[in-house]
Amino acid sequence: MSGICTGRVVVVTGAGRGLGRAHALAFAAEGARLVVNDLGVGPDGTAADGGPARRVADEILAAGGDAVPHTTDVATADGAASLITTALRTYGRLDTLVNNAGFLRDRMLVNLGEDDWDAVVRVHLRGHFLPLRHAAAHWRTETKAGHLPAARVVNTSSGAGLLGSLGQGAYSAAKAGIVGLTLVAAAELARYGVQVNAIAPAARTRMTEDVFAEAMAAPGTGFDAMAPENVSPLVVWLGSAASTGVTGRVFEAEGGRITVMEGWTPGPTADKGARWTPAEAGEAARGLLREAARPRRVYGT
Ligand SMILES: NC(=O)c1ccc[n+]([C@@H]2O[C@H](COP(=O)([O-])OP(=O)(O)OC[C@H]3O[C@@H](n4cnc5c(N)ncnc54)[C@H](O)[C@@H]3O)[C@@H](O)[C@H]2O)c1
Repeated sequence: MSGICTGRVVVVTGAGRGLGRAHALAFAAEGARLVVNDLGVGPDGTAADGGPARRVADEILAAGGDAVPHTTDVATADGAASLITTALRTYGRLDTLVNNAGFLRDRMLVNLGEDDWDAVVRVHLRGHFLPLRHAAAHWRTETKAGHLPAARVVNTSSGAGLLGSLGQGAYSAAKAGIVGLTLVAAAELARYGVQVNAIAPAARTRMTEDVFAEAMAAPGTGFDAMAPENVSPLVVWLGSAASTGVTGRVFEAEGGRITVMEGWTPGPTADKGARWTPAEAGEAARGLLREAARPRRVYGT
């Protein structure tokens, strides 16, 4: 198989199912060699099983591609380190890291237990940070040895992280954190030839097919907009050498639509040139809010 990723080695976390699986297959179809990571957990992150990663690696091999399964937890130091060393030992290089693994434990905040908060924040934030740090350390070594890689990281945020989502306090906080991490990583790692971007996808997977059953349903005929495979082409391009110059960006990707998110930008402002009293600050804030654009609605409200 050859294409825009020929010769590249790509690691995709959470690639045993859903979006990660679609990304891995799409990278392989464009000539990449894959490390297919998946801990194989249930929808709430419990009960691990290496089967999904092995099945996707087998699928890629059967189609004439190159893939190796990796079945440990990316949110542990050892799991994240071995993810990167698996790429280096198997293929001798690493070009692209796609951070995608995750799960949900939706609860309204008043019912959200500490364990659920910790588990969700851990899998998404630590599960992004640790593989990123190990990959970045490798690329820094490469740069110091005189090879400036065309290295790429694609992180996975969510509309929940950008706008908030009812019943998803931990998930929204973690996914917003991934945007902050993306901005810092893009700025810090540019000197090592690393571009870092994030996507906020929407697709039919086990994460969404029950909760948003109507919106996610496949049509009988025509374009299946919510198929996870629709998100992968942008991810493959961001993960290829062809995306030169694109870094620190967040893209929404859903069906046939790609949107560049423009993030937080300053709106109306007032400067007294001295300290406000609380009453004055309130009056100023209300005046500014009258001029400001209305925020988009939190999902689910
Ligand atoms: N489906 C959507 O519409 C949607 C929307 C916004 C964001 N996302 C994000 O996209 C990513 C993929 O989600 P999906 O919808 O494909 O869900 P999914 O449940 O189908 O796939 C997630 C995969 O991650 C694996 N995983 C979970 N914890 C892991 C760990 N610690 N280490 C390794 N693997 C682990 C799971 O076993 C699973 O196979 C997630 O980060 C999710 O938050 C999805």
